[in-house]
Amino acid sequence: MSAAHTAAGPAGRPRAPAEPGPAPIIVPMRRKHLREIRRIDKLVYPRPWSMALYLDELQRGGERVYRVACTPRPDGRPAGVIGYGGFMIVAGEGHITSVAVHPHCQGQRVGARLMLELHREARRIDGLEALTLEVRSSNAAAQRLYRWFGYAPVGSRENYYRGGPGGKREDALVMWCHDIGSDEHGTRLDGIAASMGVQ
Ligand SMILES: CC(C)(COP(=O)(O)OP(=O)(O)OC[C@H]1O[C@@H](n2cnc3c(N)ncnc32)[C@H](O)[C@@H]1OP(=O)(O)O)[C@@H](O)C(=O)NCCC(=O)NCCS
Repeated sequence: MSAAHTAAGPAGRPRAPAEPGPAPIIVPMRRKHLREIRRIDKLVYPRPWSMALYLDELQRGGERVYRVACTPRPDGRPAGVIGYGGFMIVAGEGHITSVAVHPHCQGQRVGARLMLELHREARRIDGLEALTLEVRSSNAAAQRLYRWFGYAPVGSRENYYRGGPGGKREDALVMWCHDIGSDEHGTRLDGIAASMGVQ
């Protein structure tokens, strides 16, 4: 994640399993979602993106992939936004800019559902072979999520983030997931989808 868009605090310990909510509906991010997205950002990030930055991202069409997780209405249509995530495509690589879930819905595999969708979308993009991201060194929950999807740490960026433990700056771990177009990665995604009961 960009230094201006990073998780609010450390998440070192495995979380107690939360009651799973109804399976979220994943839809492309639209302007109409931004108010709710920014509400989530303000709860989880110390330096949330501005509305202008989001609008700019949404205008970039083919260079960006953003998805939103919504709670389902009884008729199956999407209702409120509970999370979102996305990546930008730069020089044939996908850089994940953010994955965030409303604090009330964390630990219910909404983040995993979003990552699954982002990886499936990435596999559909010609020539895109790898995804990368930065994550706070203290953000263990996010790191577990990324490792599940096949990311491995390849280095760190010193003092990348503000607002670390004790108000100090904090290092970013740089993680990469290579060969996202491979059969092996497809099999990994199928396994993750099956474990979540997703087609
Ligand atoms: C990080 C964040 C996006 C994760 O989303 P989430 O919906 O809470 O996460 P999920 O319920 O999908 O769980 C991710 C899980 O994958 C789990 N996982 C890893 N390997 C697994 C496996 N083989 N089988 C099942 N689960 C596995 C991890 O254990 C982690 O759960 P845990 O923390 O309970 O142990 C969310 O907590 C969040 O918004 N945090 C604040 C913002 C933030 O930090 N964003 C990331 C910035 S880099």
